Amino acid sequence: MSSVRATHGWTDAAAAFYARGQQHSDYVERLGPAIRRGVGRPTSLIDLGAGTGDLGAAIIPQGARWLAVEPNGFMAERLRQRMQAHDLSEPVVITQPWEDLGEHNLPPAEVVLAANLPGMTEDPVTLWQVCTRLATRHVCWVCGAEIEPSLGCLSGFLPPVLRDPRRTYGYDFLLRHLRDIAPTPEIRFVTWTWRQVFPDFAAAYLHCAGLTADIADPAQQRRLEYHLRQHLVPGEHGLMAESPRQSAVCTWRQR
Ligand SMILES: C[S@@+](CC[C@H](N)C(=O)[O-])C[C@H]1O[C@@H](n2cnc3c(N)ncnc32)[C@H](O)[C@@H]1O
Repeated sequence: MSSVRATHGWTDAAAAFYARGQQHSDYVERLGPAIRRGVGRPTSLIDLGAGTGDLGAAIIPQGARWLAVEPNGFMAERLRQRMQAHDLSEPVVITQPWEDLGEHNLPPAEVVLAANLPGMTEDPVTLWQVCTRLATRHVCWVCGAEIEPSLGCLSGFLPPVLRDPRRTYGYDFLLRHLRDIAPTPEIRFVTWTWRQVFPDFAAAYLHCAGLTADIADPAQQRRLEYHLRQHLVPGEHGLMAESPRQSAVCTWRQR
């Protein structure tokens, strides 16, 4: 598998970075129960932007029908490894973006899940229409619900003075777009912690510089370096950065 390949904004390197962070975070433990409270234990799931499949696996019971839509090569490979390791025939993986699902005559599922995918699209209305066409019982979106600007999983690790003021679309933005076509969802807020381990200080600096406002300014560079020296925690595998996160689990019941 090549290590760098662009797929809908995600390179394999970015996907591998996300998967490593998820492994150290409590994302699945915290989000899984909140989603189950909204949708129960579905006997069939369509998981749009399934990633590693860890979240989908925390929701469905064994033997449930599970279709994962995941265009990124690294993530799709992870999903296939999961199937092999557990001798499972599920999930079935479609390696295409959700925008191309029209080509497939997919059978509907009780639940359609889009976790951390809606914040990446500029077209939430079409995503919503695809979800409602495919779901027989519930549509569930997991969306960012940070109060501070958040550009990604590690934004909360940086203090406000360093944070890039741009943000990915949060649940408020997304729900505003759906105002005329969707009922108000049930919303559950969940706090959790993202943890990213860097092999060394240089790797941590390089990544965090990409999230920092005005990084060309030497004063910002000094602040970032000082912040990292104060807050990175040494551990067995390298230096760990912790970022507090908040998500909104939005659930709609199909009529
Ligand atoms: C932030 S990750 C979330 C993964 C997983 N849902 C989770 O909650 O852990 C977003 C995922 O959406 C995938 N993705 C990006 N654009 C997509 C698209 N247009 N259609 C389907 N998946 C997409 C990415 O490859 C990535 O795996």
